Amino acid sequence: MLRIESLDAHYGLFQALFGVTLSVAPGETVSLIGSNGAGKTTLLRAMAGALKVRRDSIRLDGDPVGGASEREQLARGVALVPEGRRLFPSLTVHENLQLAARNGRPGAWTVERVLESFPALRPLLARPATALSGGQQQLVAIARALVCNPQYLLCDEVSLGLSPLVVEEVYQLLALARRDGMAIVLVEQNVRRALAESDRYVCIQKGRVVLEGISASADRHAVAQAYFGV
Ligand SMILES: Nc1ncnc2c1ncn2[C@@H]1O[C@H](COP(=O)(O)OP(=O)(O)OP(=O)(O)O)[C@@H](O)[C@H]1O
Ligand SMILES: [Mg+2]
Repeated sequence: MLRIESLDAHYGLFQALFGVTLSVAPGETVSLIGSNGAGKTTLLRAMAGALKVRRDSIRLDGDPVGGASEREQLARGVALVPEGRRLFPSLTVHENLQLAARNGRPGAWTVERVLESFPALRPLLARPATALSGGQQQLVAIARALVCNPQYLLCDEVSLGLSPLVVEEVYQLLALARRDGMAIVLVEQNVRRALAESDRYVCIQKGRVVLEGISASADRHAVAQAYFGV
């Protein structure tokens, strides 16, 4: 269980999250819904160890892990697919995947298995990460997180700027990961999609949780209100 409790997050003097509490159980998918600047990326970064936060504000199976490094979180099974992809530009696609596999945990998702599930990646292997389209980089970023065999996969705007066909491929890949028992925390701007792809949703507004519930029975009107802050 990944448990966030009374989490505050700051950038210098600016406070971005205020007492956020939520939990993600093994195998479940939770959507974070909120408008630009609500704090979704900040929350994912805090979970992934990319942001300094109070130690006991994040617990993994009971252990306080807030403020641990990204490398430590990866070793514990928490991986982030960051907004804007961020591959290592000087490495080829294959090297990016191999490096991630070495830094992650052993498990079902090997580089070979990712390539089998995602044949579109194979012809790109020898290319430098910079020589890919935005959509291709996004697919590699997801593949890179998968080969770390995380227990919790944190996906920040994975479908942003992708063609409809590639969006479907991305969600097919996430569905495969889910079938393997991976928990997913999803940030997806398309609210309908965010609800359709998740078990539960959490709406964040100006750094605070304002609404949460079961995605299948979500009141679309209430979610829209929480999203727009009206
Ligand atoms: N590096 C930073 N330095 C200072 N303030 C930041 C920094 N990153 C984010 N913020 C601020 O923190 C708040 C939350 O930002 P965050 O990126 O978490 O929002 P978000 O919900 O991911 O938004 P978006 O949908 O636009 O990606 C915003 O007010 C933002 O301006
Ligand atoms: Mg963001």
